[in-house]
Amino acid sequence: MRILNIVGARPNLVKIAPLLREMRRHPEIEPILVHTGQHYDEKLSDVFFRQMGIPEPDVNLEVGSGSHAWQTAEILKKIELILIECKPDCVLVVGDVNSTVAASLAAAKLGIPVVHVEAGLRSFDRTMPEEINRIVTDALSDYLFVTEEDAIENLIREGKHRERIYLVGNVMIDALKQFLPVAQKSKIAEELGLAGPNGAQPRPYALLTLHRPSNVDSPETLAALLQAIAEIANKIPVIFPVHPRTKERLSAAAANSLAGIRFVAPLGYLDFLSLMSRARLVLTDSGGIQEETTSLGVPCLTLRENTERPVTVTEGTNELVGQDPKKIIEAANKILKGETKKGRIPRYWDGKASERIIDILLRESRTAGVPAGTLRP
Ligand code: UD1
Repeated sequence: MRILNIVGARPNLVKIAPLLREMRRHPEIEPILVHTGQHYDEKLSDVFFRQMGIPEPDVNLEVGSGSHAWQTAEILKKIELILIECKPDCVLVVGDVNSTVAASLAAAKLGIPVVHVEAGLRSFDRTMPEEINRIVTDALSDYLFVTEEDAIENLIREGKHRERIYLVGNVMIDALKQFLPVAQKSKIAEELGLAGPNGAQPRPYALLTLHRPSNVDSPETLAALLQAIAEIANKIPVIFPVHPRTKERLSAAAANSLAGIRFVAPLGYLDFLSLMSRARLVLTDSGGIQEETTSLGVPCLTLRENTERPVTVTEGTNELVGQDPKKIIEAANKILKGETKKGRIPRYWDGKASERIIDILLRESRTAGVPAGTLRP
């Protein structure tokens, strides 16, 4: 079974690593890896390949940055040629970035079955580019692998057949479980001056990430959020690895006036995982980090009005605090006082999601008799 896997942006790499590892355990699978080039920086892409043992992509489409329509169109044009040449039995896409939707559309138009890992998540907020990507990708997908129960309901409501939806757990948590022991050896806390003397536990610190257009594209919103974080930084050091999208929008003046916040370059997977696992508090607008903190049992405040990952709130350690500075500061103070939410681990977030996905795909291709295209349900 020839599976053509698509990656484009940083979170895709974390999700594909455990899937490729599992595919390589089965000689009957021929995995092909295509990088669209949506992310191209060493710190957003290359370091993840190296640290997570992801093989070199077979093809890099090198699309780079651009507007949504432009980027999606470039991927569509380039991936179609690869799909025609390579004739995969299915195309596997992960997550909700522009690369995900573009590759799904090209494959579906060629009649190639689409496998979506992390299907069915909905924020019900169509101002989020990812929400559009999620809806379109799922509409085009033949196999829908979901991370949480709500996703099943969402997909059924949109007319998908129950027998095409599989609750398998979370591949991002597969990666976390595999790499956490390695990440614990990272010296990043010491490098940032957070470690106690003679390798003692690091001093308490908070970790911040911000890159959603709704939070960073408007200078007023970004400034208000950073002012709130600066208040928190009066009580606890806040480490802020800055995403390139955010960096472009941060004026030097803003950065200087917020001296309590430690602005650092984007971190590799192992350093970030190490910092996250030992943080007293994480503040974020990322989707994946809401899940990773739930798995780690670390308190997480999500600076958004909604989440497409509700299980991290109903079962995990996540709390939605939106963009209101007062609410953010109050919620952080509560956590710093030790009033933390006890979370539990969602069903199947056990490190075996990739194994379940590949077992299902192999079973399906065996029942169908393997030749190209037979994964079509
Ligand atoms: C993309 C995804 C988002 C995901 C995020 C993770 C979409 C619509 N968005 O957002 O869902 O959470 O990745 O990081 O697909 N840039 C660089 N170097 C790079 C890539 C980008 O400097 O390697 C800069 C460029 O100026 C670019 C900007 O970052 O214009 C935004 O990049 P883009 O890929 O459009 O979206 P992200 O904000 O990274």
